[in-house]
Amino acid sequence: MRTHVAIVGAGPAGLLLSHLLAQDGVDSIVVETRTRAYVEARIRAGILENSTVELLRSCGLGDRLDREGDPHRGIYLQWPGERHHVNFADLIDRKVWIYGQTEVQRDLGAARDAAGQQIHYEATDVALHDLGTEQPHVTFTDADGRALRIDADAIAGCDGSFGPSRAAVPDLAKQTWERTYPYSWLGILADVAPSTDELIYAWHPDGFALHSMRSARVSRFYLQVPNGTDLADWSDDRIWDGLAARLGHGQDGWALTPGPITDRSVLPMRSFVMAPMRHGRLFLAGDAAHIVPPTGAKGLNLAVADVALLAPALTALIRKKDPGPADAYSDAALRRVWRCTHFSWWMTTMLHTGGADGGDPFDAELQQSQLRWVTSSTAGATGLAENYAGLPIEF
Ligand code: FAD
Ligand code: DHB
Repeated sequence: MRTHVAIVGAGPAGLLLSHLLAQDGVDSIVVETRTRAYVEARIRAGILENSTVELLRSCGLGDRLDREGDPHRGIYLQWPGERHHVNFADLIDRKVWIYGQTEVQRDLGAARDAAGQQIHYEATDVALHDLGTEQPHVTFTDADGRALRIDADAIAGCDGSFGPSRAAVPDLAKQTWERTYPYSWLGILADVAPSTDELIYAWHPDGFALHSMRSARVSRFYLQVPNGTDLADWSDDRIWDGLAARLGHGQDGWALTPGPITDRSVLPMRSFVMAPMRHGRLFLAGDAAHIVPPTGAKGLNLAVADVALLAPALTALIRKKDPGPADAYSDAALRRVWRCTHFSWWMTTMLHTGGADGGDPFDAELQQSQLRWVTSSTAGATGLAENYAGLPIEF
């Protein structure tokens, strides 16, 4: 097969890239290891920042988001005895939207269907070749067991943190940075109306907790747990009791309503950046190039921002034979990546405590001091608002 861009991975980065390229008259073929049903059902991110929403609207993907998405003006930050609202809309005139990654993925799938996009789900043995030449290619075995090859002008590595694209860049050609955190998140989805109008991020001596949501009838919660936590040790009662204590059930008359848990998982927390986000004719986007801990709600938004820069760069390279934007892609994307890496690290280290281990009392005082400053100073709150609601894509 021959196409302009071979895209490895049909997550948000891969499908959005194929969509944006098609709008610029650039063809692509997408290869994905999982089934479409699996990709569309994966429970992951839930918050879209302002620039993500604007981009999705501008490329014709905003209709259902505008009908069903829930704009939020800000978030609550709390610690025992206190809850404060940080109002992004008032501070910086920007909002965030509750719209699950599952919905973004389904909208992208429907748009690519309508355009007749070629996507090979359930591919195996996906391998990248000849990246240092102007005719790279991808080989794989398709769902019917046929060995196939895609010749392209460029390859987009949108295959997340475990895909073959990052690994295809030789060690001598890349630099990486990594931070692992000494805690994980236990995430649940519950069939119950949210007990809050906007998200609550809670600092608590037992560990961080987050009350999020997916709709008027579905709530999403996260609890800080130790690394290596076994889900079997967390009964429904233990989860709800932990959430009630950390989120402040009973505080100023606020009540947490529990409900049936429909999904649960444990997520490790990691920061990772690889540079450059390019090797020859391979361009990396999204989790393939960088991972952030989820506390700042940045992973999905960063993947969208990368692709928003990469699509015009590949269009210029392929249609106009202009390598300028492609050469500038990695540095431009990495500026935003490092900003979001810092913000995600900052939110994470401000809100996670020693948990069951007790933690360092000095750290706990610093965290509460920082929370008090962020929620009481306009300068502090504005910094958080700018980063959380999202800086412009070209930041
Ligand atoms: P992905 O969505 O990972 O897509 C990559 C795709 O490549 C996948 O479909 C994968 O199957 C495919 N692939 C892998 N290997 C191959 C191969 N060999 N060949 C072809 N295809 C391949 N972010 C938040 O902001 N908030 C959250 O709450 C949150 N929760 C998360 C929970 C989990 C369990 C995970 C893993 C991530 C979470 N994230 C969250 C991060 C966010 O979901 C990601 O940043 C986002 O999905 C990145 O999109 P992507 O397209 O770059 O990568
Ligand atoms: C969600 C996840 C996050 O990491 C976050 O910071 C906010 C919301 C969510 O899944 O709803």
